[in-house]
Amino acid sequence: MANTPRILLVDDDKNIRETLGLVLRKEGYDVVVVSSSKEAIEENKKSQFTLLITDLKLPDIDGVQLISAVRKTNPETLAIIITAHAGLESAIRAIRLGAYDYIQKPFKMEEILLTVKRALQHAELLRQNVYLKRELKDKYHPDNIVGTTPGMLRTFDLIRKVAGTNVTVLIRGESGTGKELAARAIHHMSQRGNGKFVPLSCGALPETLLESELFGYEKGAFTGAVSRKPGLFEMADGGTLFLDEIGDLSPSTQIKVLRVLQEREFQPVGGVKQIKVDIRLISATNKDLEKAAKDGKFREDLYYRLNVVTIELPPLRERKDDIPLLVQHFLKQFSKSSQNLPRGSTGSFASSKTVSKPAMALLTNYSWPGNVRELENVLERAMVLGTGDTITPEDLPEGLVVDELARTNQSIVEPLNFKKARDEFEEQFLRKILDICGGNISEAARKSGISRRYFHQKIKKYKIY
Ligand SMILES: Nc1ncnc2c1ncn2[C@@H]1O[C@H](COP(=O)(O)OP(=O)(O)OP(=O)(O)O)[C@@H](O)[C@H]1O
Ligand SMILES: [Mg+2]
Repeated sequence: MANTPRILLVDDDKNIRETLGLVLRKEGYDVVVVSSSKEAIEENKKSQFTLLITDLKLPDIDGVQLISAVRKTNPETLAIIITAHAGLESAIRAIRLGAYDYIQKPFKMEEILLTVKRALQHAELLRQNVYLKRELKDKYHPDNIVGTTPGMLRTFDLIRKVAGTNVTVLIRGESGTGKELAARAIHHMSQRGNGKFVPLSCGALPETLLESELFGYEKGAFTGAVSRKPGLFEMADGGTLFLDEIGDLSPSTQIKVLRVLQEREFQPVGGVKQIKVDIRLISATNKDLEKAAKDGKFREDLYYRLNVVTIELPPLRERKDDIPLLVQHFLKQFSKSSQNLPRGSTGSFASSKTVSKPAMALLTNYSWPGNVRELENVLERAMVLGTGDTITPEDLPEGLVVDELARTNQSIVEPLNFKKARDEFEEQFLRKILDICGGNISEAARKSGISRRYFHQKIKKYKIY
């Protein structure tokens, strides 16, 4: 099994080597046993181990040095050091240098097995952590923003341009158009990429909570403030603060945010000292902030501060050509994440699926009020619920099918709209009555019960004469 933990056991004591080796193998681990550091280093060159268990005192190189040699080539390898009482100090030094734990001789087998188990669990968590971090970085890599339509190309261009600067950016777009994705892409491409990206949705919290979240508070600032809490402005220092739904800020918070933008410093709730911060602010809104500013609902001065550069994300219905690309992108992403899931997680997706032509037609024609997020959810649902290798219309939510029916019916109903029908009738009527009256307009007008002038206008409109 590829995921069986591999253990390298090093001890010059034949007895320990044999019994411990046996016990560990019985637990199902893949164990390599050697009696010297030199051999251990050779083994480590050949392949990587999850865990190194080594005696402190070895005939050639001691255990502490062995650990650092092994971790130099394979930093993920965890180490446990076995020591007699006399070596305790060295064992502690080994831990300072990165060993996971130590075991004192004489030890009980249960004791060492427990330590090994804990170390392996720790290794697994580290592995998952690395995986998740890579996954997150990949997801927000600018290359993973899909789009080839002109509106999106303009957006990418802007993202690239602003990433190289420190300017404040306002991202506008309907819900689910990728505002946060764009903000993260700017952050990752910028020089602050290694700093933190700190997101906050301004609409999600009541005013006082939002302020203590943003600016933090000092110990004792209010009942319950038992210790100092740094705010998000402070946590984003050196990185990017992303304020989503900025249009929901209350007037009093608007003034405070404006002040931070102007002075690049702020005061925590209940604090007296000003704290200086170096952040880039990116904000996002799905509201018409310009109008809100004109109507006095949002501070105009703050609006201008936020809006140094605007990035507009077009709704998905205005860039339907991107839909097939997005579909491929998400299907690939879902199957990738089902293959690479950390051990212990359950992957429920088939490895890869295709989309049938009629299903793709439905996906392309739908109006997507929830934009890319809705598309992503629909596909995820189809991946989970669908049984075959192909996504068919049956795997898609009813809403898409109903929408398509309405759309196709509309094309039949459309020429029969009321005004058109009335005009057609009017024209036929006028022709008929004129025919009956031998082309005499005055008589035809009288017979129809309308004025001569009005009759004249109508026949002109339909170019009857
Ligand atoms: N162009 C794109 N390419 C690939 N994935 C995208 C694209 N746009 C959006 N997504 C994905 O769609 C989902 C929604 O995007 P995001 O959260 O950035 O939208 P939003 O505009 O912030 O939405 P809301 O207004 O609801 O907060 C995310 O999973 C994101 O990765
Ligand atoms: Mg968002």
